[in-house]
Amino acid sequence: MQDNDLEYLTIALPKGKLFSLSADLLKKVGYDAENLSEKSRKLVITNEEKKIRFIITKTADVPTYVECGAADIGVIGKDVLLESEKDVYELLDLGFGACHLMMAVPTDRKRAKLSDYAHTRVATKFPHIAEEFFTRQGMQMEYVKLNGSIELGPIVGLSESIVDIVETGTTLKENRLEEIARIMDLTARLIANRVSFQLKFDRIETLVRDLKKIL
Ligand code: PRP
Repeated sequence: MQDNDLEYLTIALPKGKLFSLSADLLKKVGYDAENLSEKSRKLVITNEEKKIRFIITKTADVPTYVECGAADIGVIGKDVLLESEKDVYELLDLGFGACHLMMAVPTDRKRAKLSDYAHTRVATKFPHIAEEFFTRQGMQMEYVKLNGSIELGPIVGLSESIVDIVETGTTLKENRLEEIARIMDLTARLIANRVSFQLKFDRIETLVRDLKKIL
């Protein structure tokens, strides 16, 4: 922590699909900074006048920065937040970035029912969430953790199925996969570090109130 940290509100924004949606929403309530762009090579962008610092990080790292207090608040998808198992406050459902997590299998190798996949291999970026889901179904599975292009798993014989995110359904369709179980609906969330939430309560509360007004 730096000496002047209490004066600033540090906000972690994820690169990728949620970046511009997050930046646009925050701008509407006066939280902006010159040259705030995910393409910027500068990773900390400060608005001195408003005492705001933006840090731009890999999506999966946002909960880590917020949990350890390097960022006071952050924007992150509910999927990444749950999978991270980080201890942070979830302040607000921001509504955007809507998609869902599901299980899919190759259409031509579809089995009769979900339980027929017990003890098979599932490829996913979200092994914790997937395990919780399958355990609730009374199914034991083998998990293969991938970091992207999950749909490739069953195509190349790495797994029988996938647990992944669907937004438009195009990726499933183009790879001849079919959804067989919907696991949960997802949206972007505003999260806060537990200590920052107390130390900077007025500022964070005002931001949450202003965001609620426009959501
Ligand atoms: C996500 C997800 C699917 C795809 C779904 O991947 O993992 O692959 O989007 O979107 P759709 O239903 O609109 O086709 P992302 O683009 O984030 O990249 P990744 O495969 O590297 O994770």
